[in-house]
Amino acid sequence: MRRAAIHADRRAMQVETLILGAGAAGLMCAAQAGAGTLVIDHARNPGEKIRISGGGRCNFTNYEVEPARFLSENPHFCKSALARYTQWDFIELVSRHGIAWHEKTLGQLFCDGKSTQIVAMLLREIEAAGADLWLSTALRELSHDGSRFTARLEREGREQQVTARNVVLATGGRSIPKMGATGLAYDLAAQFGLEMTETRPALVPFTFPEGRFSALSGLSLPVRAAAGRGSFDEAMLFTHRGLSGPAILQVSSYWREGEEIAIDLLPGQDIAAALKAARAESGRRALTTALGQMLPPKLVAHLAESLPLGGNLADLSDARIAELAAALQGWVLRPQGTEGWRTAEVTLGGVSTAGLSSKTMMARDVPGLYVIGEAVDVTGWLGGYNFQWAWSSGVAAGDAI
Ligand code: FDA
Repeated sequence: MRRAAIHADRRAMQVETLILGAGAAGLMCAAQAGAGTLVIDHARNPGEKIRISGGGRCNFTNYEVEPARFLSENPHFCKSALARYTQWDFIELVSRHGIAWHEKTLGQLFCDGKSTQIVAMLLREIEAAGADLWLSTALRELSHDGSRFTARLEREGREQQVTARNVVLATGGRSIPKMGATGLAYDLAAQFGLEMTETRPALVPFTFPEGRFSALSGLSLPVRAAAGRGSFDEAMLFTHRGLSGPAILQVSSYWREGEEIAIDLLPGQDIAAALKAARAESGRRALTTALGQMLPPKLVAHLAESLPLGGNLADLSDARIAELAAALQGWVLRPQGTEGWRTAEVTLGGVSTAGLSSKTMMARDVPGLYVIGEAVDVTGWLGGYNFQWAWSSGVAAGDAI
């Protein structure tokens, strides 16, 4: 790696830009910022969340990226960065590096091979740009004298001071602490007077009282799940502890403690018409048998514990059929909670966008301090949106630097 632009003396090394966090956003930003940039990370390897993402194939972006698919206290904030570095730019980068990819579903783009190809690509990019990367390096202290930042780092048991004109907070959110997630970006943002919004685990399974769905564990079916302002047509999975699957992960970002979620078990279908037709055809059929042709029989048996599903089709009045259809298309459940930070894919909330420039990601009141990626109060839907935010916000800051 070229290190020409980094000047060291015995006491302090001087760099133009110090990026804290060698994840998706930090690496992308370093590739853009170029020579004179030092990226540090406390982990032994860079881009660990990229490595484990998308079941090891990294869902690196989505054809359908648009600002409405991101949650934030300021829904307009993400527009500028997403418009200036788009999914098409990242697709071009991936293709230029010879990485084969495919669309899986709903515009979600995955590597044909392993997600480590994306990490290797970003490392080649930062090397070509002349940026430097220190792993296994911890930040002990960060201060600012009005023009330069001074960072006290610990690397391989030795202390190293680094001064920088710019510091980029790219240490991500709180999800999966086992993988090295910390609240460092939030602590530093607070130290420099930036506001925070509430942080919550998002894209996370729901938990229910023990045993509630254990007989259905492993069963998956397409549903429309809704909570708050969010509604998603995707698969739902029953687990030993509750509900998961893409539809559930998506609505978890819109749900709050104590609220109910509504599940349409047969989205887009006219159940009343189907049951009336079945009644006309063979009125002697048991209702549960008829429903068992529309839904997994195990689920019908589970629903029969709370819904009156006894009797034959001929016993059903039109009004009863309408009630039944409404119950199946609006199955209301109240989650006990979520699996929390242990399994959440992302953090909802974070450093408030109120104090940041949407063009550069720089703190309005602290020149030279930038916040990018998941640390910012911008959270995407499931499906490659969070990586696209990491790439776009990383490039926005890298360009400005
Ligand atoms: P990221 O977490 O990537 O990087 C932060 C870096 O900072 C890490 O390298 C960490 O070690 C370092 N760090 C943290 N604290 C530090 C400290 N105190 N000192 C020094 N370094 C520190 N998104 C998507 O779009 N498609 C997908 O397929 C998936 N899949 C997926 C699977 C799983 C299991 C998870 C947990 C998450 C996803 N995501 C995803 C979400 C995606 O991984 C996430 O949004 C981005 O990685 C965020 O990028 P950042 O660079 O902001 O943080």
